[in-house]
Amino acid sequence: MIIAANLKTNLTRKETKKYINEVDAYITSCNSSQEVLVFPAMSSLDTYKSSVVVGAQNAYPTDNGAFTGEIGLTHLNEFDIKTILIGHSERRHILGETQEELVKKFNYFKELGFKIVYCVGEPLEKREAGKDVMMEYISTQYEGIDTQYENLIIAYEPVWAIGTGLTPTLDDIKDIHKELKDKSSAPLLYGGSVKVANAKEVLSIENVDGVLVGSAALCAEDFCKMIEFAE
Ligand code: G3H
Repeated sequence: MIIAANLKTNLTRKETKKYINEVDAYITSCNSSQEVLVFPAMSSLDTYKSSVVVGAQNAYPTDNGAFTGEIGLTHLNEFDIKTILIGHSERRHILGETQEELVKKFNYFKELGFKIVYCVGEPLEKREAGKDVMMEYISTQYEGIDTQYENLIIAYEPVWAIGTGLTPTLDDIKDIHKELKDKSSAPLLYGGSVKVANAKEVLSIENVDGVLVGSAALCAEDFCKMIEFAE
């Protein structure tokens, strides 16, 4: 299973260091075989522990240059970062990243052999419009993406479930994951209000290969419980 924490714009460097130390201590103590990924804030990308894969929440598809506010490959290389999150709904919907821009990013980091966690998911109005409309919308997020890329992980995150405490039913997750597995055989994570109380059930659903956790992963103890549930 793949258990991933997206810390978003939370936790200071000091807190992140403590956090990753705690997660590392847990993984080492129980000799966990799960793949654990942590996406910290950019300022903590150098927080390295061998049991945890540290990835970037975003980067610009270039080595360096005049791209104010962005981080490029040169900076990721400094910290030996080889994993990146692309297409998170907050980047699509708050930062306005288009599918075209995401495809550029995807291809750039794919060429470099990065592990890419690529996010897809529908906003509430698409879900409410019925399954066909919803799946058609999600399909547009696969456009231009090499779904056969060997270092690809897909995360299905319904936008309306992110940070809201709402989740699809277990049957809904099962149903959508089955359809998404037809599009790509890459490991498929579920994300959106996963917490200790529901992680075990979510992880037991067919075609769920792991979880991508935001808010509930900010507590290292809770995140470790989710790693334990995957065992
Ligand atoms: O990347 C993680 C997702 O946005 C899920 O966030 O667990 O706070 O709903 P959440």
